[in-house]
Amino acid sequence: MSTDAQNNLDPSPVSQVDFGYRTVALSQKQNLVNEVFDSVASSYDIMNDLMSVGVHRLWKEALLDWMAPRPNQILADLAGGTGDVSLKFLQRGGQFAHVIDINEQMLAAGQKRKVMNKYQDKLNWLAGDAQDIPLADNSVDRVTIAFGLRNVPDRMKALNQIVRILKPGGRFCCLEFSHVKNPLLSDVYDRWSFNVLPKLGLLVAGDVQSYHYLVESIRQFPSQAELCTMMADTGMAQIKVRSLSGGIAAIHSGWKLD
Ligand SMILES: C[S@@+](CC[C@H](N)C(=O)[O-])C[C@H]1O[C@@H](n2cnc3c(N)ncnc32)[C@H](O)[C@@H]1O
Repeated sequence: MSTDAQNNLDPSPVSQVDFGYRTVALSQKQNLVNEVFDSVASSYDIMNDLMSVGVHRLWKEALLDWMAPRPNQILADLAGGTGDVSLKFLQRGGQFAHVIDINEQMLAAGQKRKVMNKYQDKLNWLAGDAQDIPLADNSVDRVTIAFGLRNVPDRMKALNQIVRILKPGGRFCCLEFSHVKNPLLSDVYDRWSFNVLPKLGLLVAGDVQSYHYLVESIRQFPSQAELCTMMADTGMAQIKVRSLSGGIAAIHSGWKLD
């Protein structure tokens, strides 16, 4: 598989991208996303529990169930935020995890978590961009991105970078919000998303706009089939998807074979 370091040099073919329901210049989106996570970093973990009524924990467990970490494996957890996925990876016997996030406030909030103390020598908290990952080619066994790809301005660039850092035989898993097909569930989910979440955001985090962005960005994210195609375009193989909670979230998995 060819290295995609070249992708960093080539101008992206994309110039306009979604930021929630707005279309913005590619160069603008990251700053807007960073403002969102600067604003929510200190209340991120509690808001995650409230917004999903704790279900994000089950989704993350499902991600780890499917990944089934082994003692000799190194993980790069992109958009790793406060480190949930890396922590679970280590708790389940993985060897080492790089928690990589563009937002230092999110990483700092993660490093302060008491539950991390026991694992600090197996964690590398690294400020970095998923579109230009600060790790060597062919250096990790597993790459995850949980609720992160939605926020990345140039998703193809990030996916190509993921293939670059994976060792041959390595695996990528993306946990992300997805699209509900059942009309009844979709109706309840829309009411929760558009009516309740922004109010919770205001009450707990003192921020409505960030939670409008969350809800809108979920609706703008590619379908499961589209994301599978994007992954296949990077050369990943054996691409599979599992829907969670009726499609509210989904895990996409793909392998770098050579
Ligand atoms: C919704 S949080 C997810 C955090 C964590 N993975 C979790 O599941 O709890 C999204 C994270 O993506 C990060 N992020 C946004 N754009 C990024 C980029 N280009 N590269 C790396 N991280 C990015 C944000 O800073 C934020 O911490």
